[in-house]
Amino acid sequence: MKELKVSAIHKGTVIDHIPSGKGLKVLEILNLPEDSTILIAVNVRSEKLGKKDIIKVEGKILSKDEVNKIALIAPTATVNIIDKWEVVEKKNVEVPDEIIGIIKCANPNCITHYEKVKPKFKVISKKPLKLKCHYCERTMEEEIIAKNLL
Ligand code: CTP
Ligand code: ZN
Repeated sequence: MKELKVSAIHKGTVIDHIPSGKGLKVLEILNLPEDSTILIAVNVRSEKLGKKDIIKVEGKILSKDEVNKIALIAPTATVNIIDKWEVVEKKNVEVPDEIIGIIKCANPNCITHYEKVKPKFKVISKKPLKLKCHYCERTMEEEIIAKNLL
């Protein structure tokens, strides 16, 4: 029998293979309702990653849009939908076509720094990751994006 560091869940969503140390950030980005039941495991052993974080959301099936926004900081994550204790669906996270919030624009003069507007980016390339600000059209590449995570 496989060792379980965190209890199995009856129904819900398991986000597995999160790079270790990124679990709490992922949880923040998911912005789940305050009354959600969440199990989190940090720095557990993984064959694929060495160490990984896991988030289990009980009783809630997260939509593709809800989950895909974590692809920027946890590209290795897999999403498992659990029903009646069984994994009924398993998928990888995918960078969405548009990103709202999560990162700030690298252009210090961008309106998003002065007005109450959420940063918004169009994804112009997924691999390598390249984004373009909806407001000032500044393009941002992977290294800059990582430095501008909110
Ligand atoms: N899981 C859970 N509750 C269940 C079933 C599974 O919390 N009732 C969790 C497992 O602990 C694991 C993830 O969901 O973190 C995926 O389960 P499974 O596919 O059985 O594990 P692996 O085969 O190890 O997955 P992978 O191939 O993606 O590494
Ligand atoms: Zn901008």
